[in-house]
Amino acid sequence: MKVLVTGGLGFIGSHTVVELQAEGFEVVVVDNCSNADESVLDGIEAISGKRPLFEKLDLRKKNTVQNFFSKHPDISGVIHFSASKAVGESVEDPLLYYENNINALVYILQELQQRGNGRFIFSSSCTVYGQADTLPIKENAPVKPAESPYGNTKQIGEEIIRDVCHIAEDFNAISLRYFNPIGAHPSAEIGELPIGVPQNLVPFITQTAIGLRKELAVFGNDYPTVDGTCIRDYIHVVDLARAHVVALQRLMNAENADNYEVFNLGTGTGSSVLEVIESFERISGLKLNYRIAPRRPGDVVAAYADTEKANTVLGWKAQSSLDEAMRSAWRWEQKVKEQKTGNS
Ligand code: WQD
Repeated sequence: MKVLVTGGLGFIGSHTVVELQAEGFEVVVVDNCSNADESVLDGIEAISGKRPLFEKLDLRKKNTVQNFFSKHPDISGVIHFSASKAVGESVEDPLLYYENNINALVYILQELQQRGNGRFIFSSSCTVYGQADTLPIKENAPVKPAESPYGNTKQIGEEIIRDVCHIAEDFNAISLRYFNPIGAHPSAEIGELPIGVPQNLVPFITQTAIGLRKELAVFGNDYPTVDGTCIRDYIHVVDLARAHVVALQRLMNAENADNYEVFNLGTGTGSSVLEVIESFERISGLKLNYRIAPRRPGDVVAAYADTEKANTVLGWKAQSSLDEAMRSAWRWEQKVKEQKTGNS
């Protein structure tokens, strides 16, 4: 079975490619390399022993998408990761986000609809819930007005897919709403490679510990939580990757209950920023240099998943603990440094 993975050189995409290959899928990776390097293919090959097919393409061009599908008539499923995903950048340049995150999605869906065998997995985000009224968050929690153009592109993307599922024959899709993906493959051959200053907590922690950053700023400790810092559901990226394979197999085996389904992907456990720091210090034996800073605009106080539907309907459950995820993130950061300084 040949599967297209768009954005397959990215953090979650590359880990999903490895898990797809482990399940015997033939993978075609399409990536424009705007946010990831082609050398990620070496890491994937080092793990699986199989280098996926790769095409460097810009999916914002309709004819590029059409030509790709003409060249690969035997694509039996699509996992669509490619998108811009920096919340702050999306506020500064919304049209970049609407063009990149919506146009490419529409062109791919048009191809699948014409072929009449759509099996489509969409990379969505818990950001669609905003600050949920009830915790843990269920899939039927109301989608709140997006706090950023990035979050809006995820909401709009889900609505586009749902509309196509309503009218298209034999078109089946699943949206996967990620909570907070962290960590790296245990082999340390692939992991998160943030470009520039990391926006997300865990890469900032590991870059501070390795000496790339002076100190971590904890964005606020006056929230109404156990220790005043925000709470999130941090899920190991390999667990997340495996959920994509399970979701795709659900569609391949026509086990889906509806032609459009949504699943939250989290651990079901919330951790505060200080608890994540404590986890890092526990697994590394290091003292992290951090300071309490003002709140970051747009942050929700708490978000963690109700995993009931993913566990019972999708048949998937996150396996790794926060410590295991932090350990893999730290091992990866150390490997990146070795590769940079040639000490490997
Ligand atoms: C987590 C917590 C910060 C950095 C975002 C997107 C989401 C998804 C994951 C793409 C918050 C705190 C962070 C730092 C800190 N992205 N923090 N100091 O904001 O929950 O989710 O990334 O799909 O869609 O919204 O993740 O890692 O940025 O922040 O104190 O230097 O860590 O305030 O409480 P977030 P995050």
